[in-house]
Amino acid sequence: MSSFIKFKKINKIFDLKNKVRALKNINLEFNLGKIYSIVGPSGSGKSTLLNMLSLIDSPTSGHIKINNQNIIIGNNNDNDNLRASLIGIIYQNYNLLNDFTAIENVTLAGLALNKNRRQVLLDAKKIMSNLGLSKRFDHFPSELSGGENQRVAIARALINKPKIILADEPTGNLDIASAKNVFKVLINLKKSNRIIIFATHNREFANMSDCKIEMIDGNIKSINGKL
Ligand SMILES: Nc1ncnc2c1ncn2[C@@H]1O[C@H](COP(=O)(O)OP(=O)(O)OP(=O)(O)O)[C@@H](O)[C@H]1O
Ligand SMILES: [Mg+2]
Repeated sequence: MSSFIKFKKINKIFDLKNKVRALKNINLEFNLGKIYSIVGPSGSGKSTLLNMLSLIDSPTSGHIKINNQNIIIGNNNDNDNLRASLIGIIYQNYNLLNDFTAIENVTLAGLALNKNRRQVLLDAKKIMSNLGLSKRFDHFPSELSGGENQRVAIARALINKPKIILADEPTGNLDIASAKNVFKVLINLKKSNRIIIFATHNREFANMSDCKIEMIDGNIKSINGKL
């Protein structure tokens, strides 16, 4: 079976004042049904790699294939559409819209794909209830705890039923109890037709993945588990 995501010879050079080779000739494959963690010291390239996976940023050179489709670097319209339909992203700082309630944050992401409003609302309620947020629909982000905000962000990432879920240090801002809870939620999202990839500095959380990818200085240092 061919891998759902393929990275071939991916390089990323940031060339502002000082040239930084953030990713050096990375070859990687990701398969449906698996959870991957990305670990490594600060500056090793974890976020850069996730930004390539989310098609938010483009590599300087190399090839990306998703679902057997060649990703055309710089084709922003197509890549934006692909991201919206295929990828859910969870950030360290939640990135919620502060002027919208929890459920509005979740439904807005669903409506971006021009879906039926009533169906999106029903889906949002179901997903949020499953994440323990049934009593928090109408709260604003400022009225929620960090762990609750992150669960809203997870619900938002799930609303379009993405095959790929990406999370960059999703519990970096949380106390240990909330972090454990959010990770439990994240690991429980594992499904046969889904790929979950997260970056973390926490060894215990990293070990909850099926495959641990360790980065150092823009390179893959080791891969623990089957890709
Ligand atoms: N927009 C940018 N412009 C210039 N250099 C950048 C940019 N983004 C990242 N870098 C550099 O690329 C390298 C990799 O950064 P990256 O953010 O991927 O590291 P990281 O592994 O996610 O680190 P952390 O654990 O601190 O989040 C770093 O040396 C960083 O300074
Ligand atoms: Mg980072």
